[in-house]
Amino acid sequence: MNLVKTKDYDTMSEEACKLLAQRLHTLTDPVLGLATGSTPEGMYQCLINQYNQQQISFKNVTTFNLDEYIGLAADDPNSYQYFMNENLFKHIDIQKNKTHLPNGVATDLKKECTDYEQKITDVGGIDLQVLGLGTNGHIAFNEPGTDFDGRTDIVDLAQATLDANARFFDSIEDVPTQALTMGIQSIMEAKEIILLVSGEHKAEALAEVINGDVTEAFPASILQKHNNVTVIADEAALAKV
Ligand code: GLP
Repeated sequence: MNLVKTKDYDTMSEEACKLLAQRLHTLTDPVLGLATGSTPEGMYQCLINQYNQQQISFKNVTTFNLDEYIGLAADDPNSYQYFMNENLFKHIDIQKNKTHLPNGVATDLKKECTDYEQKITDVGGIDLQVLGLGTNGHIAFNEPGTDFDGRTDIVDLAQATLDANARFFDSIEDVPTQALTMGIQSIMEAKEIILLVSGEHKAEALAEVINGDVTEAFPASILQKHNNVTVIADEAALAKV
């Protein structure tokens, strides 16, 4: 694992943005795996700024997001589709038909999962996957105990995740209890991965990612087995490493 240590959230976001921008310059038809959550927001803002300064273009970029809540449609402010539109897509020159998220209101959710995997295969796989980290070690919505060989699927969310994500909803009862998520195996097939981690509330989890045992009880620990992972984390998140 490569480790990039930054002073704070803003510099973490800038480092991640710089790395992504470099890949956009070198890859001909970049395929990016994208994440939601609070962590990548600053990186997205930095990418929008770079686009506005005409330093990067997303014209040839294809994206696949990690996950989506079941039952939330694209126009629901808490859906990840809405998050991506607001935080990135509507501000840049990406072609809408090249952006992908699992559809959490598909009539056949199982088929949605296999179709999603197929779409990733059809474009030759993901060049660069961006990941955040759940405090319980989840990546995407792969909760503790998830099989390492899992692919895109329907999952139940852990109580810790419902609690952590309740801040975005009016009440905890409104947080969907299920999601569609890319599996650990789908994520591990990305050619390159960057893991973004910020804040002292992630310090224990990050120490586990870097120094802990590789175990399905702590999903992000699998990243130790990938041959091209860069962890970009701020000092607060690295406090226990
Ligand atoms: C969420 C998402 C993950 C995200 C993680 C951390 O539940 N499904 O993709 O990386 O939890 O979120 P945050 O960045 O808000 O701490």
